[in-house]
Amino acid sequence: MATLLRHGASRVSSASSSWRGSWTGTSFKSFSRSLFVEATTEEQVSLRHLSGAEEGVAVLTLNRPDARNAIGVELLKQLRDVLEAIQLDTSARALLVCSSVPGVFCAGADLKERRNMGVAEAQRFVNTLRSTFSSLEVLSMPTIAVVEGAALGGGMELALACDIRVCGDKAVFGLPETGLAIIPGAGGTQRLPRLVGRPRAKELIFTGRRIDAEHAEEIGLVNHRVQAGTAYKKALDIGCEIIKQGPLAVKLAKVAIERGSEVDSASGMVIEEACYAQVLQSKDRLEGLDAFAEKRKPTYHGH
Ligand code: COA
Repeated sequence: MATLLRHGASRVSSASSSWRGSWTGTSFKSFSRSLFVEATTEEQVSLRHLSGAEEGVAVLTLNRPDARNAIGVELLKQLRDVLEAIQLDTSARALLVCSSVPGVFCAGADLKERRNMGVAEAQRFVNTLRSTFSSLEVLSMPTIAVVEGAALGGGMELALACDIRVCGDKAVFGLPETGLAIIPGAGGTQRLPRLVGRPRAKELIFTGRRIDAEHAEEIGLVNHRVQAGTAYKKALDIGCEIIKQGPLAVKLAKVAIERGSEVDSASGMVIEEACYAQVLQSKDRLEGLDAFAEKRKPTYHGH
């Protein structure tokens, strides 16, 4: 089961949850949810909350070493549970998505499981994977993928669903699905062209080619390429910069960018105006102005 660790305290697993995420302003609806406490051994996805100067940063970690973090039914279920929990957790203001498996971020869909699935089951799985990554994309806090090693197929799609990508210089990216006579099915055909442009995305998807970290940086697939083994530190630095900003402002900036980029520019301006109207009402805005006048650091509360 997915395990949620909070300052090293008790373990809480979430289960029996069915849910959906949607942009409704900044709200995310969840329902039919039950939580229970359980000691577990089979932990493929975990969530930690950092403390001290890093308080506000949460770290989601994939941990299925034997299958190189391949996404099977159990890992997907745990990922959904953790995403549901984090969306409801107002203390998490930036999320790092990492792997505990050396040399691999995520090997994509579990191809061994897939082989034993019928058409209907495979379709259900892919649809769930797609909606889970969409739920990650619409989380209210910024998300940063920390890629060391291979991010292939669904693994690359997982990174694409994050707001920011940081990789080590031994990282490898690829959408090899056409080589398996399928297409990327967890958002890859949609997010990759939006990120790197249609011609580049088409070439990568039509050929199934794997690219190295340098190429990924060149085409804008990653925000930062750093020395292998230091991607987590770089991502954490970014997370720590984010948590110093006004929480509501960061949240609404994400909404404005995400929603605005799906519509024409004039409509995007209307979305920006609506988001701005919400920050205008906040106490944090007044605190920002006071702190500036008093030459001190602001203390924000997210409202
Ligand atoms: N699904 C199921 N099992 C997978 C897997 C996947 N996507 N990727 C790796 N594994 C399994 C391997 O079958 C192997 O299992 P085994 O020990 O029972 O033989 C184990 O993980 C280790 O894999 P291996 O290839 O030896 O590890 P590696 O560290 O040398 O290479 C990768 C890691 C990720 C580069 C390599 O495993 C790979 O290319 N995987 C396929 C990725 C892919 O095509 N994904 C697209 C899905 S659409």
